[in-house]
Amino acid sequence: MKIAVIGTGYVGLVSGTCFAETGNHVICVDNDAQKVAKLNAGELTIYEPGLENLFQRNTKEQRLFFTTDLEEAVKDVEIIFLALPTPPGEDGSADLSYVLGVAEQLGQMITSYKVIVDKSTVPVGTAEKVAAAIKKNAKVDFDVVSNPEFLREGVAVDDFLKPDRVVVGTSSARAQDVMHRLYEPFVRQGNPIYFMDERSAEMTKYAANSYLATRITFMNEIANLCETVGANVDEVRKGMGSDNRIGRRFLFPGVGYGGSCFPKDVQALHKTSVDNKYDFKVLKSVMEVNNKQKHVLSEKILKYFNNDLNGKHIAVWGLAFKPNTDDIREAPAIYTIENLLRAGAKVTAYDPEASENMKKIFEDRVNFVEHRYDALKEADALAIVTEWSIFRTPDFSFMGELMKEKVIFDGRNLYDTELMIDKGFYYNSIGRNTVELRKNHVN
Ligand code: UDX
Repeated sequence: MKIAVIGTGYVGLVSGTCFAETGNHVICVDNDAQKVAKLNAGELTIYEPGLENLFQRNTKEQRLFFTTDLEEAVKDVEIIFLALPTPPGEDGSADLSYVLGVAEQLGQMITSYKVIVDKSTVPVGTAEKVAAAIKKNAKVDFDVVSNPEFLREGVAVDDFLKPDRVVVGTSSARAQDVMHRLYEPFVRQGNPIYFMDERSAEMTKYAANSYLATRITFMNEIANLCETVGANVDEVRKGMGSDNRIGRRFLFPGVGYGGSCFPKDVQALHKTSVDNKYDFKVLKSVMEVNNKQKHVLSEKILKYFNNDLNGKHIAVWGLAFKPNTDDIREAPAIYTIENLLRAGAKVTAYDPEASENMKKIFEDRVNFVEHRYDALKEADALAIVTEWSIFRTPDFSFMGELMKEKVIFDGRNLYDTELMIDKGFYYNSIGRNTVELRKNHVN
């Protein structure tokens, strides 16, 4: 099939490349000429495991193309994907100006029937708005479909090629047939394609992300309570998660959820509820608790040092909002580091991929290093903010030699508490140190 993907950001690039991988002819469009030039020169513009191979193969085999020429790109295609940004406005609602702007242009450009697909996360009712914007100028038939993505950064290629489900919102049988042909190769293992109305598809995306954010937030609160009552959240998590109705995944407490999706989508769904005069109390609490949770690690550190970090050197491991990405949007590390600096600390930071992006925020206020152990030299404490695999089994004796004090604050519960105590570390993690253990160790 011939496909155009408008917007070569994260979602557009992964989607376009994966559609090419199943044999489609894909042309990706972006108005950023520099970006297009880079992609045409064979250079990827994002970091995503597994994407590079697919990108190189499909461009070489002439199934994947990049251009700035929107009109030329959409001329001969059957399907047009809109993978454009929908940033949150000041009031939390998704800004649709990019999506609707392109929709109006498409109306003027299309000369034969097209299926136009909203891939961006957009509020309920957007498919209708997009259709109206196209219709203003359109002289031919078209259908607008809502097809939300459920890609996780870091495993997006796998998520795209082997989706748990595909959600397609359309009220047109013709569009349904096109979408079925397109996605059938991705669900041969037996996973479903759910066809539904446009509004339900749009709502599904927000409901899924908001539920996951709620689940994490609930566990963060359980963890915080575990600390005060002397329970171990690891045990609690296992005991809970083995109930089939709950399930084991996505129950890990930490330093709050971040990234480009959860914070934005929870906010946008809350805004939708406000606009519709529905008081969505749970969502309000989720936002409130998560905003607090992003400060939990720095608060623990401050407490340990009696609220004064002047002259203290804190090492930070992990800057990305989660492992296997260089994305720092809404990353808990931003809040952690900001708080540490404000309290007077000198901060040295290491991340396998995200340092360059973090430098744009902190510039020379933070010392970024190339190797994880370099961050630890003469450190008074180590703060672990992202659970990169490389941090899971470090050389603790070497760490102890490098650090001024053997003190670790772990926001991702990477190590066993007893083991760390055996190795002579003060070790404080999320929801796990029993009152007893902590008392023994601090005193
Ligand atoms: C998410 C959704 O999973 C995906 O379906 C959607 O399309 C986009 O948003 P992503 O933002 O890439 O994907 O990250 P995800 O792996 O879902 O993690 C989101 C945040 O939750 C991260 O900050 C992560 O650290 C945190 N998290 C996740 C936890 O704190 N605990 C968990 O158990 C799981």
